[in-house]
Amino acid sequence: MLQDVISRDGDARRWEDFVVPQCWESFTAEDHAVWDLLFARQVELLGMRVISPFLDGIDLLRLSHPGVPDVKGLNAILTPRTGWRVVAVPGLVPDEAFFAMLSERVFPVGNFIRTRGQLDYLEAPDCFHDMFGHIPMLAHHDFAEMAEHLGRLGLAAISAGQGAKVARIYWHSVEFGLATENGEVKILGAGLASSFGEAHFSLESEEVERLPFSVERAVHTPYKHDAFQPRYLVSASLDATIAEVRAMTAERLLAL
Ligand SMILES: [Fe+2]
Repeated sequence: MLQDVISRDGDARRWEDFVVPQCWESFTAEDHAVWDLLFARQVELLGMRVISPFLDGIDLLRLSHPGVPDVKGLNAILTPRTGWRVVAVPGLVPDEAFFAMLSERVFPVGNFIRTRGQLDYLEAPDCFHDMFGHIPMLAHHDFAEMAEHLGRLGLAAISAGQGAKVARIYWHSVEFGLATENGEVKILGAGLASSFGEAHFSLESEEVERLPFSVERAVHTPYKHDAFQPRYLVSASLDATIAEVRAMTAERLLAL
C-alpha cells in the first residue's frame, strides 16, 4: 500500500530499498531437498495441464536442476533473453514498489522456502511460488512485454487512487488465470501452476465459475487472497490476453 512505501521523514522509498541479497549459500541441505520435493511433485501433477510456454520456460531456465535456484544463474539466462531480472526480497513488497519493479523488468522472489511441514500452506509466497510459478513465463517474449506494461499501468492506477483495478487484472491473468490452448483449458497463472491443491481444482471442480477473460471483466471481478478462488477467468488464448492487456491504456483503464 502507498503509505507503506513512505518513510517517516516523508521521502518515498524506492523499490531498490526492498531488495536483499539472496544469500544462496545460506540455504540448507533440507531447504534444497524441499525444493526438489516440491518441484518433482508439481511437475508430475501439472503434466500437460499447463500452457506450453510455461513448460518451455522451465526447460530454458534449467529449473529442473536440483536445489533452490541461484538468482545469479537464473539471470544469466533470463536477462539476455527478455531483459527481465530476478531480485531477492524478504517477503511481500508493497504494491507501488512491486509495480515499479515490473515496470523496469525486475521480478522479486522470496529469499526463503517453506518447510517440509508446510508443503501446502503458505502465509507469504516463498521462492518456490515465485521462481517455479512466475519466472518461466518471463522467458516468453510477449508475456515479458505484457508484464512490464502491467507495471506501468499499476503505477498509473495507484497514483490515481485506483490500484485495485490493476491488482485484479494481474490476479486474473498472471496469478490465477486459465487459458485455452489447442482447444483445452489449461493453467496460465503462477498461483495455480505452483499450487498442489488448486491446480486441479481450478480445472476440474464443478463448484466454481469459469468465465471468459477480458480486461474489463477482470477489473470488475473480486478475488480471494486466503482461499481457493470461487471463479476463474479463461483466456481465449495466451496471445489474446497478452494483446488485450498490452492494448489497455491508463486513461481507458481509469475510466472502466
Ligand atoms: Fe505470485
